[in-house]
Amino acid sequence: REVRIIGAPSDYGANRRGVDMGPSAIRYAGLADELERTGLTCTDAGDLTVPRAEERDPEEVQPTAGSAKFLKETREVCTALADEIAETITSGSFPLVLGGDHSIAIGSLNGSGRDEDVGAIWFDAHGDFNTPETSPSGNVHGMPLAAALGYGAFGDEPWASGNRVSESNVVLVGLRSLDEREKEDIRDSDMTAFTMSDIDERGTSEVVEEALDIATAGVDQIHVSFDMDWLEPNEAPGVGTPVRGGATYREAHTALEAVAERDDAEDVLRSLEFVEVNPVLDERNKTAELAVELAASALGKRVL
Ligand code: ARG
Ligand code: MN
Ligand code: MN
Ligand code: MN
Repeated sequence: REVRIIGAPSDYGANRRGVDMGPSAIRYAGLADELERTGLTCTDAGDLTVPRAEERDPEEVQPTAGSAKFLKETREVCTALADEIAETITSGSFPLVLGGDHSIAIGSLNGSGRDEDVGAIWFDAHGDFNTPETSPSGNVHGMPLAAALGYGAFGDEPWASGNRVSESNVVLVGLRSLDEREKEDIRDSDMTAFTMSDIDERGTSEVVEEALDIATAGVDQIHVSFDMDWLEPNEAPGVGTPVRGGATYREAHTALEAVAERDDAEDVLRSLEFVEVNPVLDERNKTAELAVELAASALGKRVL
């Protein structure tokens, strides 16, 4: 199976410059070589074209309540990304997407879920389930799950009906920072959410195994979305919205090795993404290097 690397250098959703350099940083950290060492064939599709922030509409820079900033720009990036992913899957390759902020996942879910029913596992400190109406920040990287599932004002977007992501097969893992309305909306949804406390009590393996059971039940395959802020900030300092109390280095590997093992047995993994790497905030590219290691774990790297 050939892995196709797709860069989505968007920072429209994060209100922070720098995360647009994530794909370069992850490549520079040796992604292609590490995947080849893991025994995978690898091609690089390059980066999607994302116009620079300086060319953006300045009116959009200030957050306004009840809005989603840079929605038009995000729509363009996500449409292109969804097409690229769907084509990659159709051609028999495996899409490995590099962000960019987490708003790009709207495109990933639409590409991965274009032709088949899919589930998703969302490794993140955050729920990313705000809508333009409920978001305290207006930043779309806090909204991609709600967007892909068509909640709130997103119901009118073409992407809300353009995918076959099954809500009851969406599982959030390792949550520790939710907005008040977001909390309620996650509870009211058909998604399943495991918090960091669940991981503390039950251990990473057990939680991730259950997440995999739920995400894969009755669907063809799953998309795995990995926000680097899932990790404890001293392991992954190069992220825009760090939250203390995150997964350790070993827990992150454990989680993605569990995904790889399930994929070995049942061929469940349809697409994979790593988002929110911001080299401007990083320490000597440490967060990008960790993303490379984690990608290898998710795609089957074994010690022995
Ligand atoms: N919940 C906050 C918001 O809506 C933070 C979201 C952070 N999301 C992320 N993908 N890092 O603004
Ligand atoms: Mn996050
Ligand atoms: Mn996120
Ligand atoms: Mn597979």
